[in-house]
Amino acid sequence: KRVALLISGGGSNMVKLVQSMTGDHPARAVVVGSNDPEAGGLARAAELGVPTFAIDHRIYKGDRAAFEAALLQPLLDARPDILCLAGFMRILTPDFVQRFQGRMLNIHPSLLPKYPGLHTHRRAIEAGDAEAGASVHLVTPELDAGPILGQARVPVLPGDTADSLAARVLQQEHRLYPAVLRRFASGDQTMLSLTAA
Ligand code: GRF
Repeated sequence: KRVALLISGGGSNMVKLVQSMTGDHPARAVVVGSNDPEAGGLARAAELGVPTFAIDHRIYKGDRAAFEAALLQPLLDARPDILCLAGFMRILTPDFVQRFQGRMLNIHPSLLPKYPGLHTHRRAIEAGDAEAGASVHLVTPELDAGPILGQARVPVLPGDTADSLAARVLQQEHRLYPAVLRRFASGDQTMLSLTAA
């Protein structure tokens, strides 16, 4: 299976995913793209030997369709079977999603359906939640709302800040996403639940 990955920043999830696709893994990373030419993850992908591209969304101002048309070209050129959004921070239109629906995954730093959207860790702390975590889901046109393929749970500890909780969740993202991708690439869509090691 050919896997394309989209990032917007440091790409720590992308790195773990690319590093997981070796040996008898049924998938290989074929391209890493970003909406930000300065994204640190692009250099990390190149170090791992994965071709990269960047389409600067700022060039397209508010023209989302034009940005997505530009993004689509290098993506389709890579002939991906699976598209992994990994720290990708742009909202995709239904037209774009429909092109990959059923084979496009995203990781979101909350226990969906709780806290779709932004500032998930702050919201969990303010709500007094005892636990938080991350979800890997199939992408549908509705933001952060598709079928969940895996979740990882961590405790919210007394004195946690959004940053301390984010760090704890990120560690579990790095376990969860590769495990879910390997199953998904093998045709297994049963839900995976992880608890903090
Ligand atoms: C992480 O918090 C992840 O949950 C979210 O994007 C953030 C950065 O991820 N999707 P990465 O280090 O760029 O993979």
